[in-house]
Amino acid sequence: MNRRKLVVGNWKMNGTRVGNVDLLGALREAGPYVAEVAVCAPFPYLADVALSLQGADVAWGAQDCSAHESGAYTGEVSAPMLAEYGCRYVIVGHSERRAYHAESDQLVADKAKVALAHKLTPIVCVGETLAEREAGQTDAVVKRQMSAVIHTLGHCISQVVVAYEPVWAIGTGKTATPEQAQAVHALLRAQLKAASEKAGEMKILYGGSVKPDNAATLFAQADIDGGLIGGASLKAADFIAICRAGA
Ligand code: PGA
Repeated sequence: MNRRKLVVGNWKMNGTRVGNVDLLGALREAGPYVAEVAVCAPFPYLADVALSLQGADVAWGAQDCSAHESGAYTGEVSAPMLAEYGCRYVIVGHSERRAYHAESDQLVADKAKVALAHKLTPIVCVGETLAEREAGQTDAVVKRQMSAVIHTLGHCISQVVVAYEPVWAIGTGKTATPEQAQAVHALLRAQLKAASEKAGEMKILYGGSVKPDNAATLFAQADIDGGLIGGASLKAADFIAICRAGA
C-alpha cells in the first residue's frame, strides 16, 4: 500500500503573532511538498494561521477540542467552531493532555467522534510511558488506548489519523529506534485491520524527538506514514527538512 506521507507540526504552547508570520512564510515558500504537510497551532493564532496559509500547500489544525458541541464549558473550544474557520485537523489525546488534564481513553474517543462529526480529521495520539515500556506493557497500553477509539467510532475509525508517540521520547531527544517504532505501528495496524477493511489506507504517524537527521529512516518503515513533530516544527529549516524527508 503506497500511502502518501503526512508531516504535522505540533507547536504546543509556543509562538508569537510576529514569529508565526515568519515561520509560516518560510513553509509556504518551501512548498509544494511531496508529503502532505500541516501545522497545529494554539487556538488564538488559528484565524491568523488560516489567513497566512491561504493557497499554500500546508494545511492547519488545532491541538485539542471539546467533547461537547456547545454549552456551559468555560474555556473549551468546540469542533464546530474550528470547522467554521476551515480547520482540517485536530490533535486529540496528546500525552500532555492525558497527563496534565487527566484525559481518559473514553474522553479522547469522544473528542475524536465530535471532530469527525464536523468533518475535521482527528489525529489520535497513543503511547506508553517509560515505566510502562520497562514493565513490558507497551503493547497492552497502546491497544487499550486505541480500542476505546475503535469502539466509539465503529467503521468510521478509518477516517482518523493515528499518531504513536512514546511518552519517553517526547521532547527528550530520545527517539524510538525505527525498529521499536515499526513494531508498535505494525501492532496498531493489525488492530485497526480487525476493525476496518480500510485500515491499509490509514495513516499512522510517529512522534517523539523526530529531527531532520532521523526522519528519513523512521519514515522509511513499512507502517510509518509520517510524523507528528513538536520541537523541530518551531524551526522553519528543520521542519522543512523533515517534510522533505517524507518524499
Ligand atoms: P517532540 O514532540 O517532537 O518535541 O518530541 C512531539 C509531540 O509531542 O507531538
